[in-house]
Amino acid sequence: MAQRRFLVTAALPYSNGRLHVGHIAGAYLPADTYVRYLRASGADVRFICGSDDNGVAALKSARDQNRTVEQLTAHYNQSQSKDFAALDIEFDIFGGTHQPDYVETHERFAQEFFLRVYEKGLFTKRTTKQLYDEEAKQFLPDRFVQGTCPHCASTHAFGDQCEDCGQPVEQQSLLKPISVMTGTTPVLRETIHWYLRLDQLQGRLAKWLEQKKDPQRCGATWRPIVLNQSLGRIESEGLPERAMTRDLTWGVPVPLDDPDAKGKSLYVWFDAPIGYVSFTAALCERQGGGAADYDRWWKHPDCKVVHFIGEDNIVFHAITWPAVMLATHDSDSLQGEAGEYQLPHNVVANSFLNIKFPGKDEEKISKSRGTAVWIEDYCKTFDPDPLRYYLTAVAPESARTTFDIDDFIARNNGELLNAFGNFFNRTLTFAHKYFEGRVPTTGTRDAVDDEQLAACRTAADEAAAHFEQCHFKLALSTVMGLARSANAYFDATKPFRTRKTDMNACGRAINVCLQTARTLTTIVAPVLPGSAEKCAEMLRLDDAWRTWSSATDELATGHELGEPVILIKKLDATELFSE
Ligand code: 2FM
Ligand code: ZN
Repeated sequence: MAQRRFLVTAALPYSNGRLHVGHIAGAYLPADTYVRYLRASGADVRFICGSDDNGVAALKSARDQNRTVEQLTAHYNQSQSKDFAALDIEFDIFGGTHQPDYVETHERFAQEFFLRVYEKGLFTKRTTKQLYDEEAKQFLPDRFVQGTCPHCASTHAFGDQCEDCGQPVEQQSLLKPISVMTGTTPVLRETIHWYLRLDQLQGRLAKWLEQKKDPQRCGATWRPIVLNQSLGRIESEGLPERAMTRDLTWGVPVPLDDPDAKGKSLYVWFDAPIGYVSFTAALCERQGGGAADYDRWWKHPDCKVVHFIGEDNIVFHAITWPAVMLATHDSDSLQGEAGEYQLPHNVVANSFLNIKFPGKDEEKISKSRGTAVWIEDYCKTFDPDPLRYYLTAVAPESARTTFDIDDFIARNNGELLNAFGNFFNRTLTFAHKYFEGRVPTTGTRDAVDDEQLAACRTAADEAAAHFEQCHFKLALSTVMGLARSANAYFDATKPFRTRKTDMNACGRAINVCLQTARTLTTIVAPVLPGSAEKCAEMLRLDDAWRTWSSATDELATGHELGEPVILIKKLDATELFSE
């Protein structure tokens, strides 16, 4: 069978701030987990990310912090990249849409996309009215204007999107608009922009999305929230044209030989997803394949593109970005013919994460209110796996969930340490103490032993099916189910007792425990890679343990084991979360 190929992306974080647990739970951890699983299953994968440097968000923060936008974005590009590495989130490339090593390639790709859509006649040049700050003497695109949301009445709405309900917002529909530059009330002034003819593309988009309702037909399980916010929106409201240019000089210059394009940049949401493509090209070049090699990943129907994002990015990944790709096609094919950009196989979105500090009420994560757990702080004290475990166990896969500090500690010290850590510890310690650190002989297995080994096979199969469908919570609960059953088996077969009465029975039980530990090592790895490495060392496995198909390979009798080490440490909330 041909090797499966996947191009997996995680939303490009804005390079204007640090990362917190909400970011990680939203897109990066599930994406990394998926990539690790896919690789174990034998697929050829490229995992792409980088910073989203253009647009108003960075400009506004640079202004607030009295730095140049180049300094600001370089700083956060670095700090975010470090945070990801500290959590064992391993991209093949972490670029940046305006970072010195990437900006040239990125601009070239973004401008090529724009020109292609332009040539296809899918932009309308329009004179419109936009909010203008008379004191700062500039237009106020996107986040430069704040006001009250026309959808949910929150006062945290900006000229592109509402922070609270996540809905896109037309700046003119903002109630009580205020310029964030000067705090004055802006006025409407005429300007010219290029609008993407989403109205022309919506028929094809709707047909493409329609297929995604049926996993049999499209081969992927799309989450309801993604379909509701994309297909649902097309069906209920239809798609208006959307401006893809801005009155800004920070960004990708509009590549038109037209005096009206002067001083304008591409809309950041036009160029950001193209970052996935331009960073792939940069990666291909780095790996010696040449930049053009990127089309093996983007323009071949046998490569599946999967985007991981937070809920607030759905519209841009399931409508605008596919629309831009469709607009570049010559064919009518919904997915894209060979040689054309392939529309995503899946867009996997998580909802948001709330936070609950000890003794306080649950609340939204907010940078300004200081209600966040920053990755930089977390990693100073703790290993990555407790956080990876918790954020997968409570992942907001279908609705908002909560990072509850007490629950985080309780689950680490309870289920993870007890079920998983202790099982390895007791099994390995026992094997060292009574079997000279070697796998005891299998003996004649009875029904209980066979049942435990069958549970290993079932868990490996079920976890694989869950990972395939991006049901990470279920995958983890399957893995933990096996760890719990392993402890129950240990308790039921009582090797601590049989070692005095029936050494054969004792050896048989420890053998089965070690086989279970072997399976756990492989199937826990996508979620807890650091712990899995330790498990593999304790069991002294060769590299084959990294492949999923090896998960139920049995350790040979007499196989020499490594030393037991502490897998999961007991945590104390006060180390990090005391205020
Ligand atoms: O929401 C965000 O953080 C955006 N910067 C995500 C961009 S994703 C992609 F399109 F690049
Ligand atoms: Zn709102």
